[in-house]
Amino acid sequence: MADPSSTDPIIELTGISYSYPKEQPVLKNLDFELRKGERIGLLAPNGSGKTTLFHVIMGLLPVSEGSIRIFGRKIETEKDFVWVRRKIGLLFQDADDQLFSPTVLDDVAFGPLNMGKTKKEALSISRRVLSFLGLSSFEDRITFKLSGGEKKLVSLATVLSMDPEVLLLDEPLNGLDNNTRIKLISVLKTIDVSYIIISHDIDFLLESTDAIYTLNNGRIEKDTTVYVHSHDHAHMMGNVPHQHD
Ligand SMILES: Nc1ncnc2c1ncn2[C@@H]1O[C@H](COP(=O)(O)OP(=O)(O)OP(=O)(O)O)[C@@H](O)[C@H]1O
Ligand SMILES: [Mg+2]
Repeated sequence: MADPSSTDPIIELTGISYSYPKEQPVLKNLDFELRKGERIGLLAPNGSGKTTLFHVIMGLLPVSEGSIRIFGRKIETEKDFVWVRRKIGLLFQDADDQLFSPTVLDDVAFGPLNMGKTKKEALSISRRVLSFLGLSSFEDRITFKLSGGEKKLVSLATVLSMDPEVLLLDEPLNGLDNNTRIKLISVLKTIDVSYIIISHDIDFLLESTDAIYTLNNGRIEKDTTVYVHSHDHAHMMGNVPHQHD
């Protein structure tokens, strides 16, 4: 892995604020940086603004204040965000927001086709990604008839088929059984991308990320109150050096 501190930020958010119409602000003067090679976990309570943050980065929600830089480029217009969506892949919290084509293969091929690949290239990419995720037998399945966990995996295939440089994964474990969870962790270890994972599962984040952040009062904080320091447990003051019997 590249030394993250030695590289320029690939996502740089400065002073970001966001409020849903007629609501109190969800994100308040938020600063955040993701550098190449970084793998960050985001663990914060329901309703704290995690999904909102991902949607702001992708340009699905317009910020009222603050600046967004992606790979050093200032992102302002919808055209800028179209460029961002080619670089950054978002796995939606709800797979039904991601999948819309009749069959799995159509859905996975949609992204590459949209990026200008020929039909032949798009199908070849899609079959490779489905095979990588162990989903080759799913090609002709009817998307809306898949189970929740199957939809989540196919959603991941639609994201990976666009060959993103950065992944934003919003609760990727949702609906996954234990074997599939192990498969997802091994997939994350294999792919060479920077990512942010939203999850409520500390053990999963410990296995798949290098640092865990939280969202508190509309701002991102390094989690120092409950510092998770082993694969087995987490507790108050865990960041103070100590021993267990
Ligand atoms: N479309 C919307 N209109 C108004 N308020 C919204 C909308 N979407 C989300 N919110 C509110 O914004 C806040 C943050 O929501 P968000 O979905 O970002 O939280 P989250 O941290 O992802 O939660 P969870 O862990 O439950 O997924 C919540 O209070 C939510 O009710
Ligand atoms: Mg959410």
